[in-house]
Amino acid sequence: MKPRAVLAALALVAASQAQAYDAARARQDWVLNCMGCHTADGSGIPGKVPPLRNSLGHFVSLPEGRQFVMSVPGASNSALNDAELANVLNWLLTTMNADSRPASFKPYTADEVAAHRRPALTDVARTRTKLVKQLQENGVNAVPEHY
Ligand code: HEC
Repeated sequence: MKPRAVLAALALVAASQAQAYDAARARQDWVLNCMGCHTADGSGIPGKVPPLRNSLGHFVSLPEGRQFVMSVPGASNSALNDAELANVLNWLLTTMNADSRPASFKPYTADEVAAHRRPALTDVARTRTKLVKQLQENGVNAVPEHY
């Protein structure tokens, strides 16, 4: 292989291993658009706002859960554009949900978010209860039904 071809191959490997999100951007978007309700470390507020740590990874293991995460009102209706929302969700899934995230997790893309974030869910509680039951049937009890 010529040196240039070696360099091109190395660049390809580096690109494929690059993280699927821009952490600095995600942190800033989180602070301005989500943190006010979900709290700085994503623990939420008991009885009012659900935690976003150690739960989203379980949700995205179900196709309907992956959809749920994009279309809850706080995410769906946020001022973030599709690429920014995908970026924040990928960051949340990698930082606060590293343990619950399935190995097969594929990062959200801007196109996917554009196609599926709307309409915002209107029956959040019912959809969530169904998902939690489904997770429990799969042996996952880590996501509480009531927060
Ligand atoms: C105004 C307060 C508020 C803001 C801002 C907000 N959320 Fe939420 N979020 C909630 C509440 C309350 C719920 C519970 C469901 C509901 O009532 O909509 C929730 C639920 C969620 C859920 C579902 C979690 C679960 O376990 O049910 C996700 C995912 C989520 N929000 C993501 C986000 C993201 C990402 C942002 C920022 C782009 C954000 N939220 C901004 C209040 C907020």
